[in-house]
Amino acid sequence: MRIVAAEPRHAAALANAHARCFRDGWDEHVFGNWLQAENTLVLLAEITELQIAGFVVIRSAADESEVVTLGVVPEHRNAGVGMSLMQGAMTSAVERGGEAMFLEVDAGNGAALRLYRRLAFVEVGRRRNYYRDCEAFADALVLRRTLMDGN
Ligand SMILES: CC(C)(COP(=O)(O)OP(=O)(O)OC[C@H]1O[C@@H](n2cnc3c(N)ncnc32)[C@H](O)[C@@H]1OP(=O)(O)O)[C@@H](O)C(=O)NCCC(=O)NCCS
Repeated sequence: MRIVAAEPRHAAALANAHARCFRDGWDEHVFGNWLQAENTLVLLAEITELQIAGFVVIRSAADESEVVTLGVVPEHRNAGVGMSLMQGAMTSAVERGGEAMFLEVDAGNGAALRLYRRLAFVEVGRRRNYYRDCEAFADALVLRRTLMDGN
């Protein structure tokens, strides 16, 4: 498994992986747009050509980068893939002049929170009832870390 920058030919595989990670999956065209967008980087964890274990999309503005989405397909979870993707994302952000990274996460997403806390992200905000799933609401946490003190 290696972390590489995604290319347009990966759009279908990315959409397939995203749909396996999130209820509202993004289609191939959405990924096609991300892959062409300015100031956006898509990294993937590649197992073999066009077979991917996970992905991360980051978007940069001025000296801040945002994690737009991160996912690891179920059969490759808990094996360090998410950690490798985030470390790759942070390294790329620093190379592009990034000084801080932030993201939003469902306050009930224990797996993601553990990963982000391991990476020294800290809570800087909470959006109450931000996510809605049928009749249930969940808070969103805004997490941030500086990128100047290593990964
Ligand atoms: C969140 C997600 C990306 C984690 O990816 P992963 O490859 O399984 O994570 P890693 O194996 O790199 O694990 C990193 C840390 O998180 C912990 N972790 C991962 N899954 C966990 C789980 N289900 N419960 C508790 N801790 C978990 C690991 O134990 C590890 O911490 P540790 O080193 O202290 O043991 C993955 O579960 C996923 O894709 N979930 C669905 C999509 C999603 O929620 N994305 C994030 C949206 S903000």
